[in-house]
Amino acid sequence: MTQKTEISVPSDAPIPAASSRARALSGTARVPGDKSISHRALMFGALAVGRSRVTGLLEGEDVLRTAAAMRAMGATVERAADGAWTVDGVGVGGLAEPADVIDMGNAGTGVRLVMGLVATHPITAIFTGDASLRRRPMNRVIAPLSLFGATFMGREGGRLPLAISGNPTPVPVSYTVPVASAQVKSAVLLAGLNTPGVTTVIEPVATRDHTERMLKGFGAELSVEETADGGRVIRLTGQPRLSARAVTVPADPSSAAFPAVAALLVPGSEILLPEVGTNPLRFGLFDTLAEMGADIVLENPREIAGEPVADLRVRASALVGVDVPPERAPSMIDEYPILAVAAACATGTTRMRGLAELRVKESNRFDAVLSGLAACGAKVEAAGDDILVHGTGRPPRGGATIAANLDHRIAMSFLVLGAVGDAPVAIDDIRAVDTSFPGFVPLMNRLGMSLT
Ligand code: S3P
Repeated sequence: MTQKTEISVPSDAPIPAASSRARALSGTARVPGDKSISHRALMFGALAVGRSRVTGLLEGEDVLRTAAAMRAMGATVERAADGAWTVDGVGVGGLAEPADVIDMGNAGTGVRLVMGLVATHPITAIFTGDASLRRRPMNRVIAPLSLFGATFMGREGGRLPLAISGNPTPVPVSYTVPVASAQVKSAVLLAGLNTPGVTTVIEPVATRDHTERMLKGFGAELSVEETADGGRVIRLTGQPRLSARAVTVPADPSSAAFPAVAALLVPGSEILLPEVGTNPLRFGLFDTLAEMGADIVLENPREIAGEPVADLRVRASALVGVDVPPERAPSMIDEYPILAVAAACATGTTRMRGLAELRVKESNRFDAVLSGLAACGAKVEAAGDDILVHGTGRPPRGGATIAANLDHRIAMSFLVLGAVGDAPVAIDDIRAVDTSFPGFVPLMNRLGMSLT
């Protein structure tokens, strides 16, 4: 095993970073593997019979936490010498009780989905996380998992640390997801895996469907019915025999967003981002950028491991403000901070509607976008759950220090803004970037950014 299978415990000392005006970006860069798919590959591999092989896994802190959680529950998860990962599963229903508290670090997806697994296993597990994860609401999964008969003991508001005892004799559930959340949908489906009978999840608004695609790939019996109003009804037959398989993880569109927007904004840039996932339920940012006038070409579209991918060629473009409808939010929920940066450099107003969920991400991104952009000299305002960015066609001046608040995407977004302002943009602490984008600084500098 190499050191990458270890979780590096970050030192207490913050590591500041700064970004100053970049030269034209050029070159080819493969961004790390998709975070959503990486978590699921480890979990489904852990529940399958046999040895799954995962290539292109995101080796970021969040995913390594999920690897450790699966090990703590009996699966064997290892990194092979060639960089691929192998998972020897225990079979659906075979998870063992972890011997200690499981620290999920910063990983909201990791903890919520693993709680779904535990809910219908005859085991008790105790979860905690970093200061960011301990602030985040868990009631959204506690409520539906309680319907399966799981019991919880947690802090006020269902916050971590919390203990969950799974129900050894769960009953299937039909659940309408009250917030557009792939994490909640997936937690319910994963609880349904070890429940006899059919578990049904109704989502009024479609969210990322990696769980559905991948469970089918591992051999589960699962159907997806699209409703007339854009929602979905997902039915999963419980207690399938999942079979080990090979998974190739595409590059993460949520990570590709950062070099892509940097290349759009820095005059003269042209970059190529290979093998980026283009799943329509993840691609809202790129659809929005296209409406803003971005020159992004999807070259060589193809499919890998059941997911559409393409090589993204991105050229610097003059952007105009647009109205982003609320129903697009689930397909770009993690991309609003970087879209706001692009909007601040565009001509005209961009209105991003229906962003309530941004308040409960790794940090309160709603407030972080407003205060950070204002500190950099952009004209921004809030109207209810909407954010309006009034672009002047010139990048904001920069010259501020932004508090990352343990939020990787806030840190990366403002470092991109620093590439175009008159004055550098600093971040108080860049360590959180490792949760989703290890190697961000060298990759961006190789393309032409000036990050220190
Ligand atoms: C994710 C779902 C989204 C997203 C997160 C990853 C997933 O969260 O923000 O980064 O992998 O299911 P919500 O489901 O809470 O919107």
